[in-house]
Amino acid sequence: MTSTRRQVLSQGAAIAGVASAGFLASNASAQTSKLRVGLMLPYTGTFAQLGVAIENGFRMALNEQGDKLGGREVEFFKVDDESEPAKGIENANKLVQRDKVDVIIGTVHSGVQMGIQKVARDSGVLSIIPNAGLHAATRSLCAPNVFRTSFTNGQPTQALGPVLLAKGQKKVVWISWKYAAGDESLEGFKAGFVSGGGTIVKELGLPFPNVEFQALLTEIASLKPDAVVCFFSGGGAVKFLKDYAAAGLKGKIPLYGSGFLTEGVLDATGTAAEGVMTTLHYADSLNTPRNKAFRLAYVKTYKLQPDVFAVQGYDAGLLLIKGANAVKGDFTKKVDLYKAMEGAVIDSPRGKWTMSKAHNPIQDIYLRVVEGKENKVLSIAAKALADSGAGCKMG
Ligand code: PHB
Repeated sequence: MTSTRRQVLSQGAAIAGVASAGFLASNASAQTSKLRVGLMLPYTGTFAQLGVAIENGFRMALNEQGDKLGGREVEFFKVDDESEPAKGIENANKLVQRDKVDVIIGTVHSGVQMGIQKVARDSGVLSIIPNAGLHAATRSLCAPNVFRTSFTNGQPTQALGPVLLAKGQKKVVWISWKYAAGDESLEGFKAGFVSGGGTIVKELGLPFPNVEFQALLTEIASLKPDAVVCFFSGGGAVKFLKDYAAAGLKGKIPLYGSGFLTEGVLDATGTAAEGVMTTLHYADSLNTPRNKAFRLAYVKTYKLQPDVFAVQGYDAGLLLIKGANAVKGDFTKKVDLYKAMEGAVIDSPRGKWTMSKAHNPIQDIYLRVVEGKENKVLSIAAKALADSGAGCKMG
């Protein structure tokens, strides 16, 4: 992203920050001031649409509360993190030190999340993760002030192995971007696949966010596995699905994935995604009044179909609302704030979920198939799946 664009995005925030800095300094706990919400999300690059969907969902939840949190008005501060891990700490610090936000909502990319996690742990600022599945965030690096409303990278794929094994697909090729999200999705997949007698004949990877798939697809064709399993998302997922079909592999070697593969992409992929099966904690077609109402409201507000990212953003809003209401907007009451968030039952479009001790959702994982423009639910692949939270000490 160009610096001009970044300046435009943050200009409003910077002016507001200067104008209210003095006031805030002398009224640190004044509940009449606006609550400062930082959005650190990708607004450019391969995950740009994901960032927008998360913000849309988050704003929709607040809008249902009259745009207030615990009775306080809200002021937004935005940073485009560009899914660039090298700028993660710097960008999170812009929100914490410059904009003095009360909470950071972010982000999508696991590598960037590492930066937010460090800043959140060092500063103590409340952090809600609306996507990034980085295991460490709710395992060894967990923290009382960090909550996740999405998943750990291993959660969706853990449920996928048994699906393939039941179909007799025992030899697979794994392909993904080589970074935490791809590696940890593979770890989850292995847990349910290799233990049940499956073999991963080859692990293929390319650096994020590269989309030069041709040589790898040629290799897959020559390996002739029973199936291909992958982690891709956003713009890269569109390209992968199209290239897989164009290489003549679709219909020959079944393609499976962590469900992000087919989220928010079905308008762009045409028929290339048709029939692809994935596992995820959401499905468009979930036949519940809650999901139907959410989808209707989202379409009405944004003229767009919601996806899992919109749901995760919405749930970040619901979680923050629970906390803010419990302390009547006074975010200095951290013990009560975190207690309310820890104990929250989130009535999500995905189905009700609760927080694990390490602050990650305990949730159902669905098996879905793409039919037309929809991720259609086939079954519950894993009920109330919790991440291990291994190594988490809240201290
Ligand atoms: C991640 O980097 O953690 C990540 C990114 C996109 C997804 C899922 C996970 O769709």
